[in-house]
Amino acid sequence: MTSFTKIPDEERPVISVDATHTIARIEANTYGGFTEHMGRCIYGGIYDPGNPLSDENGFRTDVIKAMKDLNVPVVRYPGGNFVATYHWLDGVGPREKRPKRHDLAWAGVESNQFGTDEFLKWCEIVGTEPYFALNFGTGTLDEALAWVEYCNSDADTFYANLRRQNGREKPYKVKYWALGNEMWGPWQVGQMTKEAYADKAYQWAKALKLLDPSIVLILCGETGYSSWDSYVIKECIRYDLHGLGGSTTASLIDMHSIHIYTASDDHLKNVTAPRSAERAIQIAASLIDLARIENKVPHTVPRQKICFDEWNVWDPQRAPGEKGAEEAYTLSDALAVAVWLNVFVRQAEHIGMANIAQSVNVISPLMTTKEGIVKQPPWWPLVLFSKYMRGQSLAVNVRCGEYEGQTSPGWIRGTVETPWLDVSAALQDNGVVSLAVVNITENRAIETQLKGIPAGAKVEVHKVTGKSVLERDAGISKEDITWPSSHCFEFPAASLTLLRYKP
Ligand code: AHR
Repeated sequence: MTSFTKIPDEERPVISVDATHTIARIEANTYGGFTEHMGRCIYGGIYDPGNPLSDENGFRTDVIKAMKDLNVPVVRYPGGNFVATYHWLDGVGPREKRPKRHDLAWAGVESNQFGTDEFLKWCEIVGTEPYFALNFGTGTLDEALAWVEYCNSDADTFYANLRRQNGREKPYKVKYWALGNEMWGPWQVGQMTKEAYADKAYQWAKALKLLDPSIVLILCGETGYSSWDSYVIKECIRYDLHGLGGSTTASLIDMHSIHIYTASDDHLKNVTAPRSAERAIQIAASLIDLARIENKVPHTVPRQKICFDEWNVWDPQRAPGEKGAEEAYTLSDALAVAVWLNVFVRQAEHIGMANIAQSVNVISPLMTTKEGIVKQPPWWPLVLFSKYMRGQSLAVNVRCGEYEGQTSPGWIRGTVETPWLDVSAALQDNGVVSLAVVNITENRAIETQLKGIPAGAKVEVHKVTGKSVLERDAGISKEDITWPSSHCFEFPAASLTLLRYKP
């Protein structure tokens, strides 16, 4: 959480951090990923058999290393829009028998050479948790139950035995399951009304939890501030012991998902756009509280959090999905991603999971070529945040000037503030404070007084910046400094600075 005090641009800004003002735990799953059967995300991204860089499973080892460097805790799969016509059974068993199918989401042909067992093996190698989305388009509840049984059951039953027959004795214990993807969207096969979706999601949730009460179910929301969100939350976040084995601490729905992609050709609109996601999170969290109050959900049932399972900067001239949605990112986009991540840290109280869309090649900072990987500018804020912005989110006060121009979307203006310095802070479990400051200005270094860092402290300074906001190979630097008694620090124009110190 950050409180903001607006001052004239001529006055010196002040950032105050108090390491005792902890707000909420930053869930590790905030730094999640997403891999969809789309473009070169799976084929040619994480799975590239025959490439010298791939292991005996056909998995790209350079991508695995990048995922490990990012310490990605959870990865969503197999879509996205793709999942609305995906039948998981097509993607298990002997490869030569797997059928090729039309992929209606991205107008391609799906070979099914990579499926459930391959993805789950990849997750084990990467050291990440899988998160599956269920087919709410052409899929059936029976199919969904069968998938959960295949992945999680240790009983002597048909689909658990099919898993064993396919070479995996131990259940995978897949914890996270999404009740469909963007079912409100006109592009979705099987698009639904909110009423039809809420009915179906609730009934599926009941059956799925009867089969495996240990799973975490995620409701399909829209942006967090739509009538779809309001309706499905009200209908599905209620207290119902059926399917919960009489538990007074469990609920059928554990999280509510929302998706937002931000973008603008204009730098200041681009970097302030993620503030709309901040308001979206607050609104969705309020809708959840309202449903809990109206539906008399007891306090013993943990408050449902937001699963922001698709977020990113996506160029306004979108590279077409059918062509793989490969994006060329700039420093401006890297700073927008840093603001996105600040949003998640500030709103840690409400965030159960967040997944950048996507992890490789498709709308992604990480690109593969036949010879290796390329890290685009947004990669660097991701690495810094995933490494250091963990533990507890801290309250911060920021006094500085504000960008007063147009925003995208326009409703940010008048709803959310857009300070020149976008800030969040975390107290890591090892007692180190990490302070992330994005100077969103294009060409104005901002000298700022920092309150809370002891004079003479050793401070690690990480910076992501470049010569221009349009730069495509903006880099990262690190230096160690001794904190000056003046307590002032100059944040370079167009930069993310992460300061790490013991308070
Ligand atoms: O991430 C690309 C697509 O964007 C996803 O498939 C869909 O859920 C969203 O519209």
